[in-house]
Amino acid sequence: MKLGAAVNHAHLWDAAEPAYEATFARAFDSLTPEYELKVDQLLPQPGAWDFSVADRLLAYAESHGKELRGHTLVWHRALPAWMLARSWTRDDLLAFLKSYVATVVGRYRGRIAEWDVVNEAFEDDGTWRRSLWYDVIGPDYVEQAFRFAREADPAARLFYNDYGAERVNAKSDAVLALAARLRGAGLADGVGFQAHLAADGYPTEADLSANLARFADAGLEVAITELDVSLASAAGTLDDRLRLQASIYAGVAAACRAQPACRRITVWGVTDKYGWLGAGALPLPFDASYAEKPAWSALRAAAPR
Ligand code: XIL
Repeated sequence: MKLGAAVNHAHLWDAAEPAYEATFARAFDSLTPEYELKVDQLLPQPGAWDFSVADRLLAYAESHGKELRGHTLVWHRALPAWMLARSWTRDDLLAFLKSYVATVVGRYRGRIAEWDVVNEAFEDDGTWRRSLWYDVIGPDYVEQAFRFAREADPAARLFYNDYGAERVNAKSDAVLALAARLRGAGLADGVGFQAHLAADGYPTEADLSANLARFADAGLEVAITELDVSLASAAGTLDDRLRLQASIYAGVAAACRAQPACRRITVWGVTDKYGWLGAGALPLPFDASYAEKPAWSALRAAAPR
């Protein structure tokens, strides 16, 4: 089992903070750009592609022997303002989707081995999430996106990625039905479970194992793609909270390790110093001073070097 981390390029190359890059390079096998491959970054204005940061991140990964997970081609968020302002016909948006996916996946063909093609297409109750993509194209946008990605790099492994689908529930039922169908059509290879967890109400190892098993049985690869465990709601001393967090990390790690179809856990950030959940969540395996937390030992125990 491999370990990856989401990386923010500004911190990676912050000369005033070498510990960020050093910790990432020492501790992790793969890198997921936290936002640098999203549409608003790559195409901030119509036709004005900007691959500069993405190219540099990929070059960094390659020169340091790290794989890079491509995240993410189609999402309801991180769309540039110009896309939201425009009124699209179905044909226009489908043509855009095709050329966008062909351009991005094609540019990195043979170099980015794994893509989150579609991110967060479902609501928690398993119904389709409304978005520009869904509203203009209809649910078919998902299959189309996978088809365009497959055409652009037939060797890349293509994932559907979502949160809140870690256990058996209405959302994971919907994800499984979709992914199994796409797998049957030769379009999808795997499902990513984000696993943004919190100390109150988290999937146990047994919950996760049972769910991962049914995806594996459908012939899908599975991955934990954005693991973090927020302590914002956890009571007790800091030691108690860090121990609880480590036990949640350990459950996820054990479930992935026991499932042959699960080959990687990615955590959503490197250090508690920076995080998308804000101060107080302390969600990651390295603290704000880059010291290893109990959560790191829990992960490492399941993924020995
Ligand atoms: C988040 C990033 O961490 C933030 O920096 C960015 O501003 C918004 O997106 N699910 C996902 C990720 O799939 O792409 C999100 O990342 C977190 C939730």
